[in-house]
Order: sequence, then structure tokens, then C-alpha cells
Amino acid sequence: MYKFGEINTYEGVLDLKGVVKEVDVEEMEEALNICDLSTLSQKYKTWIKHMPRVKPYYAVKCNDDALIVKELADLGAGFDCASKNEIKLALEAGAKSEDIIFANPCKPPSHLQYAKEKNIMASTVDTEFEIYKIFEHYPESNLVIRFRCEAKVAQCPLGDKFGCNAEEDAAALMLLAKSLGLSVIGTSFHVGSGCSEYPAYNRAIATAKNLFKFGELLGFDMKLLDIGGGFPGADDNKFAAIAEIVNMSLNKYFPDEKVEIIAEPGRFFVASAYTLVCKIHAKREVRAGKKVDVKMYYINDGVYGSFNCVLYDHQEVTVEHFLEEDDNLKKFKTLIWGPTCDSLDKIIEDAYLPNLSCGDLIAFPNMGAYTVPIASPFNGFMVPKTLYFKAI
Ligand SMILES: Cc1ncc(COP(=O)(O)O)c(C=O)c1O
Repeated sequence: MYKFGEINTYEGVLDLKGVVKEVDVEEMEEALNICDLSTLSQKYKTWIKHMPRVKPYYAVKCNDDALIVKELADLGAGFDCASKNEIKLALEAGAKSEDIIFANPCKPPSHLQYAKEKNIMASTVDTEFEIYKIFEHYPESNLVIRFRCEAKVAQCPLGDKFGCNAEEDAAALMLLAKSLGLSVIGTSFHVGSGCSEYPAYNRAIATAKNLFKFGELLGFDMKLLDIGGGFPGADDNKFAAIAEIVNMSLNKYFPDEKVEIIAEPGRFFVASAYTLVCKIHAKREVRAGKKVDVKMYYINDGVYGSFNCVLYDHQEVTVEHFLEEDDNLKKFKTLIWGPTCDSLDKIIEDAYLPNLSCGDLIAFPNMGAYTVPIASPFNGFMVPKTLYFKAI
């Protein structure tokens, strides 16, 4: 019998249908997350194969489940932490302080003091105010100047919130750091989460090269380039295409191996580790005359729970059913709603599924990124339970 709260093992391929049957998901109130920790080591291998020069610092914000963080620490990943609690989590998982970058350009002073206590040496900055704050609270810290360089298309652009103007402000920030006796060790950027304009990485790496030159002129030991996140979750072909561009740019602009290259992937590692299994508890048929136009299902998780990724992360989720596939299985236009009374709680409006009934289960693959840490029990509907698995 599979157990919650521990890591269940399997041989060969994880049999989702078997798990769902054995756990008796039909009897559960809340939805079930099936987390396969083995996908993390596969993703780690994929990363190293395609971008051997770039060390991944997992962006903890993407999924802060302690077992995920521990698994990645065991694999040798570093960590991008945005807060005191994320730093604590990474340290508890076994990460060393030098394997953590405090990559939130706007840090509360108490979090900065915690970073100091824990010897977290590198911090991203993008304003003069943050540089003065670091001067006051943690002057021994090493600064990484984050500049803005966005992809033309991304699921979640970040440039309105973070990143200094590389042409107009980055040099001034470095001069300020110099005048305060602080140390700048490199630059960082984030092209936007879920980036689909891959040459953005090339533009950003070329810009970083110019900033490195300026930093070196000021006498800084420029030794860290952080290429941020933005890598796809489930599609490793797309990842390989990005890696090709990144490698080419690094060879062109940063051939010197003395410069350490890191990245802050979130989605890449965890998206495909989770499949969410939900139960239909209500159904409605929208008719146009005598014909059923759309079948609607109401399920036990929604946009206030795991599917917050539909609202905040602009994810397009996909759905699978558990009926035996056969050529005669008629499919209908389907809309899936979450369980709350809010009409915003809409998960998918253009799926095609067979005729399903109350009590039937449906599954959503690739649900590991920007889902779990943000889910709330709004309207009294519980967030999903998670079952962990690992191949032996
Ligand atoms: C500073 C920073 N680094 C890394 C990430 C992770 O990005 P992704 O999940 O696209 O790899 C984010 C996401 O918001 C971020 O803000």
C-alpha cells in the first residue's frame, strides 16, 4: 500500500492508473498530486548534457516542497533563494552557503541580516537603494548587478518589476558600489519565465559582456554570470534549442573558463514531476436546441488551489481521462470548472473529453511548477495531498 508522508518506490515505469486504483482516489475529498522524484535526476542529466558549463541554481519559489529541494541538493544543484525562509529550506536540505544566491533584488533588511548570519555571499541588486541597504546591513556581501533584458514573448515577463537599465544605470550602480567599497562580482538577468523567444538569451549574454568589461575597468573581479531562468518545463526539445543558443553565446562572449556561469531554473526541473488527479463532483450540459453543445465538469481543485498557475503563471494545462481508449469513444467539447463559487475559477474551456460522470477521475500532467506553494483552501476546499515516488 502506498503511503503519504514518505517516498514510495517503483520499478520500471510509474503506473499512474495502478496508483490511482490502489490509493482509492475516488474516496478522497481533496485532489491527489503524484510526485515522481525520479524525474528530477532525469532533468538534471538533461541539463548537464546540454549545458555542461552552466551550473543550475534551482529557483526554490517554483516549488518549495522540502523533498524536491532535498532531491535537488543531493543531485548537486545550487539554489536561488528569494527570502529568509527559502534560504533556511535550502540549508536544511543540505546545501552549502556557497551554493546559494540571494536572487531577490529587493530584500527586507531582516532577510539580509539572516543571509549574513548564514554566510550567503552573493546577492542580486538593481537599484541604488538596495546597494545602500547592503552597505548598511551586509557590506561583505558580493553584488551581482541584475539588468533588464526581456524576451519578446514569455508566459510571465518580469522586466517591469526587476532589472536596471543596462545602458543607462548599470555602470552608475557599479560606480556607486565602488565608491562605497563594496564588491561587484558579476551580472544577472531573467528573460522572463516561460520564455519563447530564445535569442533573448544571446542578447542578454552580449549585454553582460559589456558590463563585465566596465566592471573590470573599475577593478572588480568579475567572475559570475547568472543567466536566470525562463527554461521550459516539459519540452526537452525546446530546452535543447535554448541550450544551443546559450552555449554559442557563452563561447563567443565568455570563452574564459574563469568566469563561473550559473542559471536559476525553476519550471525546468519540477513541472513534469507532478501529475494532479482530480475528481468530478458535479456536471452540467449546455444545450443548443436538442444538441449538447458543451459538457461542463466541476472538480475538487481549481484556480484558487493548484490551478492558480492558470491565473498567475498563464499556464495552459492539459487534461487526460482514465477511460479505456477506443476508436468509438465519442469526444465532446468540455469546460472544466474549479470547486469554488467564483466564476473566475475556470480551468480549461476547450478540452475534448469523452462523456464523463460524477465520481470519475481526470488527470493533469506537468503540474509541478508554480502550483503547490501558491495554492489556498479558499471556499473551504482543501489543497491536494501529495504522494511521492522514486524509481529503484
Ligand atoms: C529571480 C528569478 N529567478 C528564477 C526564476 C525561475 O524562473 P523559471 O521558472 O522561468 O525558470 C524566477 C521566476 O520568477 C525569478 O524571479
